Amino acid sequence: MKVLIVYHSLYGHVLRMARAAEEGVSSVRDVEAVLRRVEEFEDTQKKLEQDEFGRPVWEKQKDIAVCTLNDLKDSAGLLIGSPTRYGNMTAQMKKLVDSTATLWQEGAMEGKPAGFFTSTATTHGGQETTLITMMIPFLHLGMIVTGVPYSAQGMLHTDARGGTPYGATTIAGQQNELQPTAEDLDIARALGRRVAETAKKLNM
Ligand SMILES: Cc1cc2nc3c(=O)[nH]c(=O)nc-3n(C[C@H](O)[C@H](O)[C@H](O)COP(=O)(O)O)c2cc1C
Repeated sequence: MKVLIVYHSLYGHVLRMARAAEEGVSSVRDVEAVLRRVEEFEDTQKKLEQDEFGRPVWEKQKDIAVCTLNDLKDSAGLLIGSPTRYGNMTAQMKKLVDSTATLWQEGAMEGKPAGFFTSTATTHGGQETTLITMMIPFLHLGMIVTGVPYSAQGMLHTDARGGTPYGATTIAGQQNELQPTAEDLDIARALGRRVAETAKKLNM
């Protein structure tokens, strides 16, 4: 059984969260984690290649396969990660979402669990709104939204870091200078594990 992790990331924060979610999925027996990125816009890619901070991240992820509709169809569960753009997912991620009409018609995603993760520059920069607005199209596709329970390690806190019941999060900093904390990555792992376990139970 495959569980797909699809992400978009320019400066590596969501990429690190995706890798942690992938580890969580892989920790569940008989579940294969499949990591995919969304297609980058040509103009953004050109800018990244000229950007001292963006280029190393692009180099790290350019060989990760781009998500296709077949990847979505073949998955028993899904984790979706996007950086925040004004409290919403990125246009690159939305492009993938808006290409799923045939999957909607076929009911191909119905009944599968989906979990969400994001990154913001600032503490109150819209983590929850991004997670919730990302959920909406996947509810239309008939998926079962999976959050993070407060029993997960690191969820009850008042620190300047991520961790929400709506999904896994991290704070990148205004100049993208921060990195996901150990707790942020643990919560992303827990979400990956939870989606994989739920997919497995639903397919018993
Ligand atoms: C057009 C634009 C809009 C953004 N909107 C927000 C926002 O609403 N709140 C916020 O905290 N950060 C915002 N950011 C910062 C990004 O969310 C941040 O760079 C990202 O989370 C880093 O993730 P990445 O390293 O995976 O690319 C915005 C960035 C851009 C370019």
